[in-house]
Amino acid sequence: MMLKLQSLFVVLLASAVITGCSKETTVLQYMPHMANTPNLKPQRGYDGFGNGSGMLTPPEGAVARGHKPYRIATADEAEKVLQNPLPMTEANIHRGQKIFNNYCITCHGPLGYGNGSIVNPYPIPKSLQSDNMLKWKDGHIFHVATKGQGVMPSYAQQIQPMDRWAVILYIRALQRAEHPTDQDMQELKKQLVSK
Ligand code: HEC
Repeated sequence: MMLKLQSLFVVLLASAVITGCSKETTVLQYMPHMANTPNLKPQRGYDGFGNGSGMLTPPEGAVARGHKPYRIATADEAEKVLQNPLPMTEANIHRGQKIFNNYCITCHGPLGYGNGSIVNPYPIPKSLQSDNMLKWKDGHIFHVATKGQGVMPSYAQQIQPMDRWAVILYIRALQRAEHPTDQDMQELKKQLVSK
């Protein structure tokens, strides 16, 4: 009996030593490789790359796959060298309308007059219906949407280049709606009469 109790004590002591007392670490692990993989832990340092970070700094001049860097420095240059690759079709105008309503309308307003819903406290934007804007070529507007202008931020991160071109087609449609030619008005009258 004495021997049995002694051996039970030894077994209990041994298991306490093996499993440990701390609740945070499991001392005895069955196939521990899965738990202890040499992966990067979020929000923790890593010494493998020698810079203390889990991310490697890309070599200078590296460009993400599929990304075309925008190298045009000024709006004047953009106006000269860029042309809208999208034709003025109904589908493209609708594509631009979607982008405009998602990204631009909040400041520039539904017709581009600068009376968007967040203006005040945000600064009042220049009108997209101004004589200036009517004269600007598409490349100029593309440059503003890509690089920003004054207090207006760049939209290059949020809007893909083709969608930036599409939004310009929609701005052109808004401008034409507010500045119709005599011919536009005659067409409209004809359409209204025929209805
Ligand atoms: C957060 C508000 C805000 C949003 C959103 C915004 N803009 Fe602007 N935008 C401005 C302001 C303010 C100006 C005047 C900037 C300046 O010259 O200081 C401006 C100016 C412009 C101009 C130049 C007008 C001129 O006569 O100089 C263009 C073009 C323009 N925005 C296009 C866009 C397009 C396209 C979008 C959507 C992709 C957009 N903006 C979204 C605030 C905004």
